[in-house]
Amino acid sequence: MTGTARPGRPGRPTLAVVGATGAVGTVMLQILSQRADVWGEIRLIASPRSAGRKLTVRGEETEVVALTEEAFDGVDVAMFDVPDEVAERWAPVAAARGAVVVDNSGAFRMDPDVPLVVPEVNPHAVRTRPRGIIANPNCTTLSMIVALGALHAEFGLRELVVSSYQAVSGAGHEGVRTLRAQMSLVAGTELGTSPGDVRRAVGDNTGPFPEPVALNVVPWAGSYRGDGWSSEEMKVRDESRKILGLPTLPVAVTCVRVPVVTTHSLTVHARFEGEVTVDRAREIIATAPGVVLFDNPAAGEFPTPADVVGTDPTWVGRVRRALDDPTALELFVCGDNLRKGAALNTAQIAELLVVEL
Ligand SMILES: NC(=O)c1ccc[n+]([C@@H]2O[C@H](COP(=O)([O-])OP(=O)(O)OC[C@H]3O[C@@H](n4cnc5c(N)ncnc54)[C@H](OP(=O)(O)O)[C@@H]3O)[C@@H](O)[C@H]2O)c1
Repeated sequence: MTGTARPGRPGRPTLAVVGATGAVGTVMLQILSQRADVWGEIRLIASPRSAGRKLTVRGEETEVVALTEEAFDGVDVAMFDVPDEVAERWAPVAAARGAVVVDNSGAFRMDPDVPLVVPEVNPHAVRTRPRGIIANPNCTTLSMIVALGALHAEFGLRELVVSSYQAVSGAGHEGVRTLRAQMSLVAGTELGTSPGDVRRAVGDNTGPFPEPVALNVVPWAGSYRGDGWSSEEMKVRDESRKILGLPTLPVAVTCVRVPVVTTHSLTVHARFEGEVTVDRAREIIATAPGVVLFDNPAAGEFPTPADVVGTDPTWVGRVRRALDDPTALELFVCGDNLRKGAALNTAQIAELLVVEL
């Protein structure tokens, strides 16, 4: 593969961002503007609805083009930040035209011929990509897996019990619009005192969520997958297993939507091969790349979405040994679902590829 020349950036690879106008795409453009500039042309692609719109990347206004086969001409790496069905159709088209695809959707993550990559945990996996596609994990898994990967490398993970507290931007721009609309509908009224009062105030404005999310928590994310499980819960189990290379790891997970705009939080109960100490666990977390230990509850210090949003690392607090099991740890983890949970991880994978181009 050869990089496409661009004035001022000769020989550097051409990058396409497909879904540049979406929630993840918007953050991707910010991240591309902030990180070391390794790209030649950056081509912005979205639906025909957005063709002709101008977006700013690296300080330059760039026109969005519609998704077509020709849009991938000369592209070396194509990041896909589009719905599953769009990625499913178009990622193979981009790969067939010579681009390496890094896909953020759920379309290919569990395909055995598609590596599922977190650069801090399994960077070597990018090298084996028979379909020319590399998958980016889902945002909930990504919000905890860097910290867990570091602990697993030393202690050997045996079991996970996870609850998520997921931000509405995990459901894209539509999720954010819905929470904002609901907040204005419930503002200034005395709600939350009798059954159904929030629901009546919100009316039909539930957007991508099954229940009002303003003044509420909703124990559901994604679609129904049978036996009571949601698609998000299955993703956390299956993707954690694939990334960590632990195909039979027991994972119990409950995914919950909360009225937070951006940054997912998780409680994690992690059981390991043998006894663990909190001191060693704190050392591992404090020194792992991409992870910050923020853990002084006596001083009121623990990560919260309001503090973590807009930052790159996984933040870990409330590190405790399980009350009744010396082999297990309890953690509270926060990660920006649009940065490390999506765009940043994709950008990091793409940067691993630049070394080859
Ligand atoms: N939000 C998160 O926290 C998160 C985290 C990890 C992964 N993901 C995944 O990343 C992907 C994008 O999510 P998002 O939250 O950014 O969604 P979003 O805000 O709804 O944005 C969707 C993007 O896809 C484009 N698109 C939709 N249909 C298209 C079509 N037929 N042809 C070309 N482009 C099309 C849209 O372009 P227009 O603006 O032109 O419609 C927009 O740029 C999804 O697969 C999602 O599951 C999201």
